[in-house]
Amino acid sequence: MKISIPVCMLLCAALCCASSTVTAATPVAARHGMVVSAQHLATQVGVDVLKAGGNAVDAAVAVGYALAVVYPAAGNLGGGGFMTLQMADGRKSFLDFREQAPLAAHANMYLDSAGKVIPGASTLGYLAVGVPGTVSGLEMARSRYGSLSRARLISPAIRLASKGFVLRAGDITMLHTATEAFRNDAASAAIFLKQGQPYQVGDTLRQLDLAHTLRLIRDHGAAGFYQGEVAQSLVAASKAGQGIITQADLDGYRAKFRQPVECSYRGYGIVSAPPPSSGGVTLCEMLNILEAYPLAELGYRSAQSMQYQIEAMRHAYVDRNSYLGDPDFVSNPVENLLDKDYAARIREQISPQQAGDSHALKPGVAPHEGSNTTHYSIVDRWGNAVAVTYTLNDWFGAKVTAAGTGVLLNNEMDDFTSKVGVPNQFGLMQGAANSIAPGKRPLSSMSPTIVTQNGKPMLVLGTPGGSRIITVVLLTILNVIDYGMDVQQAVDAPRFHQQWLPDFTNLEAAAISDDTRATLESWGQKFGPPQAANHVAAIIIGAPALGAEPVGKNRYYGANDTRRDTGLALGY
Ligand code: DON
Repeated sequence: MKISIPVCMLLCAALCCASSTVTAATPVAARHGMVVSAQHLATQVGVDVLKAGGNAVDAAVAVGYALAVVYPAAGNLGGGGFMTLQMADGRKSFLDFREQAPLAAHANMYLDSAGKVIPGASTLGYLAVGVPGTVSGLEMARSRYGSLSRARLISPAIRLASKGFVLRAGDITMLHTATEAFRNDAASAAIFLKQGQPYQVGDTLRQLDLAHTLRLIRDHGAAGFYQGEVAQSLVAASKAGQGIITQADLDGYRAKFRQPVECSYRGYGIVSAPPPSSGGVTLCEMLNILEAYPLAELGYRSAQSMQYQIEAMRHAYVDRNSYLGDPDFVSNPVENLLDKDYAARIREQISPQQAGDSHALKPGVAPHEGSNTTHYSIVDRWGNAVAVTYTLNDWFGAKVTAAGTGVLLNNEMDDFTSKVGVPNQFGLMQGAANSIAPGKRPLSSMSPTIVTQNGKPMLVLGTPGGSRIITVVLLTILNVIDYGMDVQQAVDAPRFHQQWLPDFTNLEAAAISDDTRATLESWGQKFGPPQAANHVAAIIIGAPALGAEPVGKNRYYGANDTRRDTGLALGY
């Protein structure tokens, strides 16, 4: 390591979070393959697929279906997401299976007759639901890159749904966040409550309707979800719940392969999420700004290095919020934003010892800050690397389940702009590039990312956390590249976040020392409420840290983020 991080800092980061587990001291090492996901049973499903000869995409598909069962807060069939992948032969791709606005959606659909945003309309119930993309995405990934049969990849999820799985403390914590919401939706209550009462640790959760839906997908592919009885149930439930999704919406949904966003940072390659995610562009813009600063020399979390990182975040989020939207609907100036000369011009505006003034920076679209998603990372024996982030948006999405299907539905419509210039529920403003239109996909922050060294995957990572996703991915990359941390240290290290507006930086416990904070405050930096936790899932390939020696014959080093205690890094 080029720097040493005080042990107490890392320890505190682990102990001060909600999780009751203790940080693993070292990355999980394995020789042939590695899976890191937010739920231990789903991780096991992925490893079993790799052991059975499947590749990383096969495992990603199986983990995606399994998380829909064992991580219902964010794993899903009724939501959407993104997959970034780099195959061992060098092919890079990005699969966009983001939800899209129903055909009957329109820009003012969440406004009342006086033009005011109707509270809850875009977050709760069927009107909040975007046309789901997950099943189309998983099936498209499997058919283009997978090697095992659909039945093989779905069968573990069917087993977990039909036989059930035993709920641990972390599973229960998530379910309990939505007890009242489940009580308001009979179809959700029938599954996620036990005779009307919350489940407890040690109970078994069985999801028979979901098992049935999964069998239909196994037998008919995407048509098992977008057509036939599941589709009919979705449309009927939507209609009964004042939603607007029709069979035509389901017929028209297709996941899309896109070119990933790519840039370089200190000689490493970055392969990440293009629009309709803002993730890759914003990440690359921050990295381009930071590349010219000697971060390692300035010292880990020194006031000076913090100043540059906070200002890079502030400037990149202005652009994120002003310019980006679904590329099929708005033109995204990706090339300009990724230009290293543009980053140099931004650096000219960054003072070494004076905080930027967010309100004086050009206003634009502020990010929506969703908070509950899940990310998993997988590498196989051939060196294929896959990063997937998918979501229902909020925990348990719109908190409605289409009766008879077991499918919880997303509230991704809330990622659109409900009204230009009006702060959303998180006090953030959104703008026109991200306004609602039929068939449009809402702007996202999800950033499944692969970092390459000499063209080969070196780090695979991603995280949930709404607008914090991009800065968390950034900091994890800096921890590895600039600060020489091993993958577990990089994941565990306390984080900070700045997103232009609100005009303050959030800190995790022990992210900086009191005197660093005082110095930054004397430069005009403002600090806000403590930063909420994100669950990162990361894998380093080659050795546990850059420039380190491999441990024995192991090639893969996984880090599960103990900020949430349901996840697992496991290899073989
Ligand atoms: O796409 C987005 O950016 C949000 N819907 C993600 C929400 C999220 O990350 C919640 N995570 N904890």
